[in-house]
Amino acid sequence: MTSLITDTVAARLDLVGATAREQDLYAGAGTNFYDRLVGPDRAEIREVLALARAVPGPVLDLAAGSGRLTIPLARSGHRVTAVDLSADMLGRLRGAVPHEATVECVVADMRDLALAGHFGLVVLGATSITLLDREDRSRLYAGVRRHLTATGVFALTVADGASADSLGVATDREITVPGGAGEEPYLFAQQIEGDGAVRVVNWVRLADIVPRTEVPVLTSRLHVLSPEVLAGELVAAGFTAPERSPVRTPAGVEILLLTTSRAGDGRGGR
Ligand SMILES: C[S@@+](CC[C@H](N)C(=O)[O-])C[C@H]1O[C@@H](n2cnc3c(N)ncnc32)[C@H](O)[C@@H]1O
Repeated sequence: MTSLITDTVAARLDLVGATAREQDLYAGAGTNFYDRLVGPDRAEIREVLALARAVPGPVLDLAAGSGRLTIPLARSGHRVTAVDLSADMLGRLRGAVPHEATVECVVADMRDLALAGHFGLVVLGATSITLLDREDRSRLYAGVRRHLTATGVFALTVADGASADSLGVATDREITVPGGAGEEPYLFAQQIEGDGAVRVVNWVRLADIVPRTEVPVLTSRLHVLSPEVLAGELVAAGFTAPERSPVRTPAGVEILLLTTSRAGDGRGGR
């Protein structure tokens, strides 16, 4: 497997004779960090809830993670199937599902969807489409198409404007992340690869950078995608040209919600 350690982090650890231990953001200890990182982030929830109210049928939350979108959907009375590749992330979701809610958690790869039934709304939030490369996105689109009802809606989010621009630029800076004992400082490093098509991101807790030790480095690898590219791909995959609407975020992060449905050709679900 190719290393997901950025040059910046490697150099920083090298300075003190330490080595990196890669830790996927969505597995093991990464899941706790992810929740701390995005925990208070309510972005997309109100838009997704409005969509779910408007379309009949159950909801499929893809790359559901620890349930940032699933839980509010379930609390609002929707029947939700939550799919995620990470059993650890879904474990956190299961622990947070309210008693009365109807949530089915499925550990599965969103590139190979094979679920029973069809869905009125399929959601892929948190710009998680960027986890997939072009071929994987094609597989995802085909699976979503098979799982939508005839009037079903596929909703996905992508960064836009200045937020999108910042994703294409190498970055390293200190950030703080809420922890049990207050805010903890982390080094955040973003490295751009593949002529700007891919970004590798790392987070290292500064307190963990101890000379001559193995230091946990949280990693993720993401594709840099524009709304225009995704719109073209969706149409080519048999969806209608997506409608675009801005997602309101308190932090001023620019996110676009793309909503689309099956272009009518009689294929797919009921
Ligand atoms: C950015 S998080 C989004 C979590 C949640 N939807 C949210 O809004 O916070 C991305 C999630 O995608 C999951 N994931 C990554 N690749 C996946 C795949 N191929 N199929 C299903 N889930 C995947 C990860 O495990 C992680 O939980």
